[in-house]
This record gives sequence, structure tokens and C-alpha cells, in this order.
Amino acid sequence: MGVIPPEKIDDVRAASDIVDVISGYMTLQSKGRNYFGLCPFHQEKTPSFSVNPEMQIFHCFGCGVGGNVFTFIMKMEGITFPDAVKMLAQTAGILLPEDSEDFSEYRDKEALFYANKMANDFFYKTLLENSEAVEAQKYLENRGISKDYIKEFNIGWAPNSWDGLIKLANKQSVPLSILAKAGLVIEKEQGGFYDRFRGRITFAIQNLTGQIVGFGARRITEDDSPKYINTPETDIYQKRFILYGLHQGRDEIRRNDRVIIVEGYTDVTSLHKYGIPNTVATSGTALTEHQAKILRRYTPNAIILYDSDSAGAKAAIRGADILLENGMEVKICTLPKGMDPDEFARTEGTEAVKETLEKSTPLIDFKLNNLREQGLLGTASQQADAMRDILTSVVKINDHIQRSFLIRDLAEKFHVEESVLWTEIKSLDRKNKVKLSQKSEQKKQTQNTFFDTKRGAAELGLLQTAFLNPEIIPLILTNISKLEFKNTEIHSVFVQIANDLNSNLSFVPQKYLGTIQDPAILSSLSHILSKNVERGQTWQYAKDCIISIKISICDEEINRVRKEMQQSSDKIAELVLEYKNLQEAKKFILSGQTIQEDLHLSETQESDTSA
Ligand code: UTP
Ligand code: MN
Repeated sequence: MGVIPPEKIDDVRAASDIVDVISGYMTLQSKGRNYFGLCPFHQEKTPSFSVNPEMQIFHCFGCGVGGNVFTFIMKMEGITFPDAVKMLAQTAGILLPEDSEDFSEYRDKEALFYANKMANDFFYKTLLENSEAVEAQKYLENRGISKDYIKEFNIGWAPNSWDGLIKLANKQSVPLSILAKAGLVIEKEQGGFYDRFRGRITFAIQNLTGQIVGFGARRITEDDSPKYINTPETDIYQKRFILYGLHQGRDEIRRNDRVIIVEGYTDVTSLHKYGIPNTVATSGTALTEHQAKILRRYTPNAIILYDSDSAGAKAAIRGADILLENGMEVKICTLPKGMDPDEFARTEGTEAVKETLEKSTPLIDFKLNNLREQGLLGTASQQADAMRDILTSVVKINDHIQRSFLIRDLAEKFHVEESVLWTEIKSLDRKNKVKLSQKSEQKKQTQNTFFDTKRGAAELGLLQTAFLNPEIIPLILTNISKLEFKNTEIHSVFVQIANDLNSNLSFVPQKYLGTIQDPAILSSLSHILSKNVERGQTWQYAKDCIISIKISICDEEINRVRKEMQQSSDKIAELVLEYKNLQEAKKFILSGQTIQEDLHLSETQESDTSA
């Protein structure tokens, strides 16, 4: 990815609430206006990690680390800033221009959303109004999908014609090339296009923000054509990121603190209808790491619900391992032979589904049962293999209490000493740790030392003061009119602040905090903003910082002149004069007389009357 436009970064920041995101990784408890938890970046027993929802920052008073939502993800995932932005953008359903993409290509994506929306409106209308769709209406009715759900899930009917959508696009002057890019029409070899979806019920696939990115279209007859025809991968539909039903179910997933993962579109719509709306499905593909990470934001608990006669058991286990690796606790729920979740819900009803869900099997037990059924626990060496396989799952579990229960269980089941299992676990753990510490080593090397200098400390100090006391910002800007900051990030924050002030926009700390990338700057800001710092006497402090910056600039000049004097002999008189002037200027700055204390006359009058 090239440079991400700042306004896009700001969109992503605004859409990624820091409490939501951090809750995806750890437990936070609200205390007053902030949230607290055990710091994920160092070992501790009492929580000193705080999250400030108002400022959208976090700070650990134990290890001093702090920052915004992006730096949290960077640290947690060991990824770069652009990747962190990208990751959160995915979750929020915000499009970022890709590598080498220019603006027109970026606009192309918006066009793809438009094309999908146009198609969806068309399919929906056709289903409701077209006489041809009577069969489809009956079909949906028989499956218990009522009007409400047709609307909520954007279900429709693609007319049985080669150019239904094409005609509409022509009428609306939408280029067919765009429809082709959206996967809605297919280009013929001899030229021209035809509709991809014909004579099928369409299930719109939505991203997290509800934008339609593609369709799964089901036949309603029993024939040997494929049951579903799907939108292929497009620039806006990347199957590895999308979960069907997540847009509709996300709130309930969070509230219920658990997600049910099923295989089919109809399983999702059906379970939503039967009062289990915390259900999602992949698009007929295996669960991916990206999808697991997205789900983890909402809950650490997953149940994989699958029909026992599908090729499912293996796929379920694979999906479960991915969830486990991404910090989720996984259970498997097996339905009676031959029934999928939709049929089960329709024939047995909501209560039966809920009961069955409660009887879900923890992954480890499920794995064991599965191995036993396959006769893979017969010999000692088979048992040892099975044990190792299962232990690799166990080490992925972060909760150490849960771990130790499991180990005790396993030891009993396999008739081995617990200590044998712990030895194996420790060696697997060590391998994991090596990987982790390599990541943190890389981070350490990029640490900043500029803030240890006088100039750096003053620039940072001024920034801190501005955040603590926005009301003195105009005074600061009056005195640092040319924004003489050496640190480019501090410089650009002040430029943003100044621009906003000039356009009469208010000071929104979250916004500026969201654009800073330097961890040293961020943790210093999160530090002062997270504790209740004394707010008095700040203008005095700001003045000292400004003087210090100006002195530093002066000193640099003085050093330059001094060097020149050593090197050249012809213009020495000039240089001496300059040197003297600089020394005078420095004294003058030091006396504080260069500082402007007032902004406007009116304000001075105001403070006069109040005094
Ligand atoms: P299922 O065959 O279980 O379909 O495939 P379903 O969703 O339960 O549909 P009904 O109940 O028979 O109407 C599960 C998923 O696999 C993908 C779809 O995403 C489907 O929802 N699939 C299946 C395809 O993409 N193409 C197919 O031909 C079949
Ligand atoms: Mn089904």
C-alpha cells in the first residue's frame, strides 16, 4: 500500500472505537470515565492499563506504553502503521485505495458498490412485483422466509433472461464494463455481455457497513445445475474478509457474547428468523484467519454449528483451529444426521436449537471423540500422535486456568501423568515465545532519542500543553507563527490544528491523536491525558517551551556561524557581527520579551473586566 490519504485514516479512526477494538483482545472494566484491564504488553497482577473513550487513547501506568487505536493494533499484531489502518478499515468496511491505485481506480470501487446496489434494488423489486417471481415467492414462503426477512437480508429474484439487468443498466447509463467488474454480467467471447444471475433467488452479500458486495443466487428447481451461482472475487468482494450475516448480527453477537458459525446462507437467514441472530456464515469457503480476527472483535466465544453428514467434521475442525489461534474459545455443535441448521430450526423450533447449542462440545473433546470414532486412538503411538495434535491446540489457548483444566482432563483420558503433558506444553510455549520476542526486538530498535534533547523535549512539552489546555492554543500559534518544529509529526499536528482553527473548526483531540504514529509522542500524550494532570499555570509552561525552542534555533545558528568563522578568513568581520547579533537575539529571547501575551484587544478587555 502506498500512502493512505489522511482523510481516509481519519474515517477509519472514527469508525474504530478504541474500547470496542481493545475489548476484542482483552477484558476491560469500566471505572469512572475510563476502562481498565491487565496490560497486554507486560506482566502484571493488578490492572494499570487504562483506555480513555473520550480521547480514544490507551495508556499503561505500569509500563508507560500508550497510544491510539492504530498503535494498539500495531503493538498487538506486530504490524506496521499502514497495515494497522488497513486491518481496521476492513473491519469497518471502509475502502482504502490499494497500491499504485490512483483516484480514478478508487472511484471505480464506489462504482462497483453502486452497480451492486442497483442490481439488488432490481432483484428485490422483481421478486415482489414480477408475475414471473410467483414461484420464487412460494418457495421462500415454504422455507419460512417472510417479507421482513426478504427486506432485512436483501433477498430478490433475478429474472430468467439474458439481459434483464443489462437493459436496466443501459437505461440508467451505467457502463456494462462496470457491471462486468462487479461480476454481475459476463463478457461473451464474441463480444457483448449477458446476465450472470438468471432465474434464481438472490441473496445479497453485505460487508460490515451494509454495502452490497455480491450475491449468492440459488436455483429453486431440482435439477443438476449448480445449487448456487455466486459473484466471483471482485475488487470489493474478497471472500476471505466477508461473513454473511455479520452486518445484521454484529450487535447481537456482542450482546450475547457469542457467535454461531454455520455453512449456508439459508442457515443464517433461518436462524435469524428463529431468534438466533448472532449467526454468520462464510461464503461456501473455509473459514479464514481474517474472518476469525474480525469475529474476535465482537466476542471470544464461537460455536461451529454444522450438519453431521456434510464433509463438515474436518472443515469444522480446521475452522475451529483458526478461531483458537486467534484467541477464541471454540465449541462444536453437531446436529442430527441429515439436518442442516435451517431444517432443524424449522422442524424443531427455537427452543430445540437453543438447547442443542447449550450442549455444544468443547473443541478438544470434539477432536478426541472424532479421533476415537475414526479408530485413531488404538495403539500407543497413535495415542501419542493424537495427544501432540491436541496439545498444539491447547497452547493456543491464552486463558491459563482453562488450560490447566484441560490438561487435567486430558491426562485422565489418556491415562498419563499431568507433568508429562506440562513438559510438552512448555516446550511448545517456548517455541511460541521465541516468535513473539523476535517481534518486540524489532520494535525496540526504532526508538526515538530526539525527545531527549532540549529542543525535542520542548516541542513535545508544547504539544502536551496544547492538548491539556486547548484554550491557550491560539496564544501558542501566535508565538510560534512559522511553526518552527523540527519533529515532522509534531509539526503536522500543529499545522492541522492551525488549519482547523482558521476554518473555525473546533479542537477535536481524538482526531489529531489518531494521526500520530510516533510511539514516543503518543505514549507521552496518552500519559498526561489519562491521568488527572494539574491544569494550572500552563501558559507559563508553554512559554518556557516556546522560549526553549527559539533558543535552540538560535543555538543552531550560532553553531553554524562559529563553524564558518573557523573555516573562512575573508568575511570574518561579517560573521563576527552576525555572531554578536545572534548572541543578542538569544539574550532577548531568554528575557521573555519576544513572547506575545495577548491575542486580540477584545479578549484583553474581557479578562480586564473579569479581573
Ligand atoms: P448448502 O448446500 O448447505 O446450501 O451449502 P444451503 O445454504 O444450506 O442451501 P439450502 O438449504 O440447500 O437451500 C452451503 C453453502 O455453500 C455454498 C453456499 O455459500 C451455501 O450457502 N455453495 C453451495 C455454493 O457456493 N455453491 C453450491 O452449489 C452449493
Ligand atoms: Mn440448507
